[in-house]
Amino acid sequence: MRKSQRAQDHIIEEAKELMSEFVRICAKSELPPSGDAREIVVGEKTLCIANENGAICAMDNVCPHRGGPLGQGMLEGGKLVCPWHAWAFDLRTGAAVHSPQTKVELYEIKIDGDDVLARI
Ligand code: FES
Repeated sequence: MRKSQRAQDHIIEEAKELMSEFVRICAKSELPPSGDAREIVVGEKTLCIANENGAICAMDNVCPHRGGPLGQGMLEGGKLVCPWHAWAFDLRTGAAVHSPQTKVELYEIKIDGDDVLARI
């Protein structure tokens, strides 16, 4: 990747961050149990929320392969496995294991009292 492209990507990421805000996505009691994932609808968006040993991860629910519902997938070794054709995505980066340039978007999570917030 050229340096100017990286600079442009960085500016786009900063702009996205400025335009996004934390919104309540659910109560803490609605989070999936450890080792599990679920779908949570927030306005017009559906998120995949995963709980890996207490670490909560929020990502887009739509698999970049053929649109599978990631929140209905399984967790395996720090990866979310799509229920349709088993593509696996790293919970920390959103990158597909077999093709790291293919990613699902991750959202920052914050716990505020009994509420779970995501920056979307
Ligand atoms: S739709 Fe997710 S792996 Fe195919």
